[in-house]
Amino acid sequence: MTKLSWTGFSKKTPQERIQFIKEHLPIASATSYRLKEQELLSLTTANQMTENVISRMALPFSVVPDVLVDGQHYHLPYVTEEPSVVAAASFAASIIKRSGGFQTSLHNRQMIGQVVLYNVPHMQKAQAAIAAETKALLAIANEAYPSIVKRGGGAKMLTQEEKGDFLIVYVTVDTKEAMGANMVNTMMEALAPRLEELTGAPSLMAILSNYATEALVTATCTLELRFLSRNQQEAVTLADKIARASQLAQVDPYRASTHNKGIFNGIDAIVLATGNDWRAIEAGAHAYAARDGQYRGLATWDYLPNKACLKGSLTLPMPIATKGGSIGLNPSVKTAHDLLGNPDAKTLASIIVAIGLAQNFAALKALVSTGIQAGHMKLQARSLAMLAGAKEAEIPQLVTELLQAKHMNLATAQAILKTLKK
Ligand code: HMG
Repeated sequence: MTKLSWTGFSKKTPQERIQFIKEHLPIASATSYRLKEQELLSLTTANQMTENVISRMALPFSVVPDVLVDGQHYHLPYVTEEPSVVAAASFAASIIKRSGGFQTSLHNRQMIGQVVLYNVPHMQKAQAAIAAETKALLAIANEAYPSIVKRGGGAKMLTQEEKGDFLIVYVTVDTKEAMGANMVNTMMEALAPRLEELTGAPSLMAILSNYATEALVTATCTLELRFLSRNQQEAVTLADKIARASQLAQVDPYRASTHNKGIFNGIDAIVLATGNDWRAIEAGAHAYAARDGQYRGLATWDYLPNKACLKGSLTLPMPIATKGGSIGLNPSVKTAHDLLGNPDAKTLASIIVAIGLAQNFAALKALVSTGIQAGHMKLQARSLAMLAGAKEAEIPQLVTELLQAKHMNLATAQAILKTLKK
């Protein structure tokens, strides 16, 4: 698999891409069938997943091939509606691969739940009572969800903090392969009555926190300058400007927000494809971006002239799941996990953070060189052509003319199409 060449994959038709995947990747025959038949979520299953269902909504399902993470080659399922995101990730992953790929580390993988008490009659006594019963409280949490304990997980640690008028009890839970929202919520709700008894204070709420600071993942990569550009001086300029762009995202929240949006172009695409809760991942990461009181860029790049390289790093909470939720229900989600080689939750978390870093690199490189519009608009032109109502056969000519037009917009696309049709 390592020597497999993906060059030209983007030029193939969807059917040829499926054939390529079937021939070259060790995917199960069920996956191959699902890809060939384009089997999607059925209305019956959709109706069981959420409420008031009347239909399903489809989005493009793409592949970002050959991403090298911790010495392994992965082919990433990407679900996104935005042109140039897949191209940018593929481009970045391919040049980072030539420099040795991504290295990742997991700081931990546990979720945090909280029970919030208010109107605490005696703060010190309440805290002492909770501290004295820590073991028993953890046991109550675990009894509320015995199946996770059987799998080696469960509630592991209990701490408490006085914040404003509240006494907040935090519990860290090892959720194994699941994201664990239901599990943690069940545990917290089971704890609340005993905490109320112990403290004489009512519980305001008992809920999982999406600020998953016990599930941090770091991805790094070291890009040799020669892969940035064949021209040595140009490579140095690019590296210097990318590092400056990274510094800018540390000091200006207006830029940091866009910097992080670019990272989530990639992260959301794979989180969505793998059936995970992207709102939870986004919420946790944006809270982490503001952890010292100012919202900052999540990915950073340092230019190291003495080593002729550019070093990238991205750390964020990544409480991703490979089991539970809608993961077993949606056929496209099963296909996504198969394409990845069915990694466990920790490996999937590493892959996701790595591609976030790649996505940021591609965006910064484009921003500080050609500008984002050149690459983005080249690919946006196809969407505009289709929006204008072009038939498949008319698209190539319309795209060529659109790219040469002074104003690339829908009105121009419609005007060109009108002339083409004459
Ligand atoms: P290029 O140098 O013109 O690309 O860059 P190329 O045609 O020379 O191809 C190089 C490689 O890129 C290809 O290798 C592919 O891997 C990939 P090959 O397969 O040929 O050996 N590639 C493609 N893959 C799939 N389909 C395609 C395709 N084209 C190239 N059609 C490129 C072109 C778009 C890659 C570059 O301009 C780029 O990376 N631009 C950045 C685009 C971007 O970040 N878009 C995200 C949307 S903008 C946004 O929302 C976020 C932002 O605001 C965030 C921020 O501000 O930080 C930008």
